[in-house]
Amino acid sequence: MVTREEIKVKLKRNVIKNRFIHSINVMELAAELASVYGVDQEKAAIAGLLHDCAKNIELDRMLMLCDEFDIVVDDVERLQPKLLHGRVGAVLASKEYGIYDETILNAIRYHTLGRENMTMMEKIVFVSDYIEPNREFEGIEEVRELAFIDIDKTMIISLNNIIVHIIAKGALVHPVAIMARNDMIKKRM
Ligand SMILES: [Fe+2]
Ligand SMILES: [Fe+2]
Repeated sequence: MVTREEIKVKLKRNVIKNRFIHSINVMELAAELASVYGVDQEKAAIAGLLHDCAKNIELDRMLMLCDEFDIVVDDVERLQPKLLHGRVGAVLASKEYGIYDETILNAIRYHTLGRENMTMMEKIVFVSDYIEPNREFEGIEEVRELAFIDIDKTMIISLNNIIVHIIAKGALVHPVAIMARNDMIKKRM
């Protein structure tokens, strides 16, 4: 298996500086949460490190890559191609970084919108992305504490905040984010 150090060297060339720092932060937090929730720490770390590996790809190239990788793009994604960086990132993680573990690839694939029936690995990367040390939003300290106690509740709060934020901006809400949110809530009812 490729080492984290090898991945870092490559990633540094493919993303801007702030994105690289963010990736390291997500990697570290994901590893910590993995130990709390009993999933493979190394895999969580690699998923955290690579989750945004496609984030700095030009948007027209993102759509070209979707074509090349047979990723079916829906209307919301076509209008907001940034949403595709998780799915494109998962393909690049295997093609360019040599990662073939599906649990890692799915955590990368679903870190932007979530999905129904998320695995623990997927939740950990999703949450780590949202609350890593460089993030700032009202009430983040409480969410950071909660992440180590109740990851599902943390997921719901994160998805709620993200959806509200998208609505406030006037952008399109992807239905999969709503489905992910409702799924998490249903399971607690
Ligand atoms: Fe991302
Ligand atoms: Fe991210």
